[in-house]
Amino acid sequence: MKKILITGGAGFIGSHVVRLFVNKYPECEIYNLDKLTYAGNLENLTDIENKPNYHFIKGDIVDADYIYQLFAEHQFDSVIHLAAESHVDRSITNPTEFVMTNVVGTVNLLNAAKSNWQLAIGNGVSENLFYHVSTDEVYGSLHDGGFFLENTPYDPQSPYSASKASSDHFVRAYHNTYKLPIVISNCSNNYGPNQFPEKLIPLFINNIRNNKPLPVYGKGENVRDWLFVVDHARAIDDVFHKGKIGETYNIGGFNEWKNLDLIKVICKVMDKKLGREIGESKKLISYVTDRAGHDLRYAIDANKIMNELGWKPSLQFEEGIEKTIDWYLTNQKWLDDVTSGDYAKYYEKLYVGR
Ligand code: NAD
Ligand code: DAU
Repeated sequence: MKKILITGGAGFIGSHVVRLFVNKYPECEIYNLDKLTYAGNLENLTDIENKPNYHFIKGDIVDADYIYQLFAEHQFDSVIHLAAESHVDRSITNPTEFVMTNVVGTVNLLNAAKSNWQLAIGNGVSENLFYHVSTDEVYGSLHDGGFFLENTPYDPQSPYSASKASSDHFVRAYHNTYKLPIVISNCSNNYGPNQFPEKLIPLFINNIRNNKPLPVYGKGENVRDWLFVVDHARAIDDVFHKGKIGETYNIGGFNEWKNLDLIKVICKVMDKKLGREIGESKKLISYVTDRAGHDLRYAIDANKIMNELGWKPSLQFEEGIEKTIDWYLTNQKWLDDVTSGDYAKYYEKLYVGR
């Protein structure tokens, strides 16, 4: 039985990847390693938690000795690495945490994989794979049209994207230096069920439901390229099974939206779902001080993964956003649970002075 370690599997994207792999590959043992930070939630996986090929391990990738021993004990064949601090606003207030988890944590996993797999690599056998899941934010901000390609030079602007760029460089360096079998993907903004409601889409759905202000940064003119999370999980499956060792694949839905236009769509759908008069939710829009160093536009050219691996998004945005809103409205307990306690204090602090 192949043993696949998925890090960060209790988070937003990780939980969709774990679900897909556990259900689609019953012949593989899937190990979900997660520290269960504020963003990790085992409630995301209740539907598969009793499957015989699923195993949860609570642990911290920043603890090098622990990670080394975990590899020695389980002899994982492959790693799909998603664990990270993922929110740009938090990286602006606490960059060091992002260096620890995203850079040091990644290097700890690379070291453990390298020492466990050395023999196999030395023999020219490569049944192993270290798959690093990254972001389009490493490429910086697009100002004059164009798209991010796999060879677009890195130009990270926030502490979050700088930490992800650094981790990408380490992953490539381990391939170049030690011949570690790696693959990297860089994806655009994800949306869908189970996303922590500090990110734009679930935050705004939750605030509309509770009649709270919708804090639009700056003038709402920034552009993001949105992909339904299940389509990202499907792309990760394709890259994991069909991607070429040492390569990078950009993942995106060719689905650009200016923040304000997207917010208006969410408001309109929410008005309908909540039985409010059309235009009611839009009144909650409140312009606040812009995010420091706010990237203007992200847009992925996903032709490589489409042409070489045959992946394409399965959902149109209109259908995806409707599904997403329905999920949050029918899972109010999930929203209330994750936004209670420390999060409420954090959220209030974030908006003081804005
Ligand atoms: P998330 O914040 O929802 O989940 C991160 C998970 O990692 C959580 O379960 C958390 O508990 C776990 N984790 C954090 N620190 C850890 C540590 N020290 N040890 C073990 N586990 C730890 O993040 P997400 O949005 O699901 O993103 C997952 C990955 O995909 C990240 O690497 C992110 O950079 C990347 N990504 C995200 C997006 C997006 O739009 N959300 C887009 C492209 C790439
Ligand atoms: O592009 C991929 C990245 O997408 C991932 O690597 C990150 O992990 C993920 O968080 C996301 O980053 P963004 O910064 O683009 O996502 P966020 O949801 O925080 O913000 C989306 C846009 O909405 C951005 O232009 C900022 C704006 N925004 C966000 C929030 C939370 C607001 O105007 N108001 C808000 O309250």
